[in-house]
Amino acid sequence: MTDYHDILVERPAPGVGLIRLHRPDALNALSRRLMAEVVDAAQAFDADPDIGALVLTGSERAFAAGADIKEMAAAGAVEMLNSGMIESWARLSRVKKPIIAAVAGHCLGGGNELAMMCDILIAAETAKFGQPEINIGVIPGAGGTQRLTRIVGKSLAMEMILNDRRINAQEALAAGLVSRVVAPERLVDEAVELAQQIAARAPVAVQLAKAAVNKAYETSLSEGLEYEKTLFYFLFGTEDQKEGMQAFAEKRAAVWQGR
Ligand code: HXC
Repeated sequence: MTDYHDILVERPAPGVGLIRLHRPDALNALSRRLMAEVVDAAQAFDADPDIGALVLTGSERAFAAGADIKEMAAAGAVEMLNSGMIESWARLSRVKKPIIAAVAGHCLGGGNELAMMCDILIAAETAKFGQPEINIGVIPGAGGTQRLTRIVGKSLAMEMILNDRRINAQEALAAGLVSRVVAPERLVDEAVELAQQIAARAPVAVQLAKAAVNKAYETSLSEGLEYEKTLFYFLFGTEDQKEGMQAFAEKRAAVWQGR
């Protein structure tokens, strides 16, 4: 699939794949088609050896205002259960290369859940994060109760999910939801620069580093430490480890092969 309707796909810098959510009339509400396109584009970049990192962004007004309420409104429970909707979103979290979410404006409901499926979140000063599902008689369904709670802690997550508390970019920074706040006009450039820097690093180590950090959200400390240790030892089987350590000793820049 390359004939996209609701996203724009670019290669803004060497090694970087950029996906822009593009439903301007609906504040990038995450319809099934839009999410299928996001997953398709992300998987295509993941499979492309010329790409080392991805950026996912929306518009100045909205990263995304949530799942498409109008699309879901009339659905019954069994229809939703059998739709595979959330399962299809979850395919994004199986992308091996790092994904940076560059967030401006509304980042709500499924939009915030989509951002939290990414690996690094950068916010414009205009960003507003929230889980307002309670207002429409439901709860988050794609990680809001789980990822948000692990990231920002129970009390703030409860306020956001039970009482639609929205937090701004600085509050998101203080809570650990984002790693930096930038001027809106710098948002995509900063995300692309960061992605380019990561894409220039040892590819296998980057991939396994992402997997190891994400494991911290899914397992006990002792199991996570075992996993990390195994990946660390595994990397000694790569040419890049030999090259990296040799280049250090020779005081030169390493040349990565990705193997
Ligand atoms: C469908 C949406 C939408 C959404 C906005 N729009 N959000 N359409 N689904 N989630 C549409 C509006 O209907 C409107 O279309 C257009 O986008 C512009 O929105 P306005 O409301 O006119 O803009 P504004 O007054 O600036 O208000 C912005 C807003 C508000 C505060 C973000 O749109 C809003 O509250 N949206 C819903 C937020 C929300 O509840 N998200 C959670 C969804 S549930 P028209 O045609 O009228 O111009 C969810 C569950 C995920 O995400 C579960 C996992 C899958």
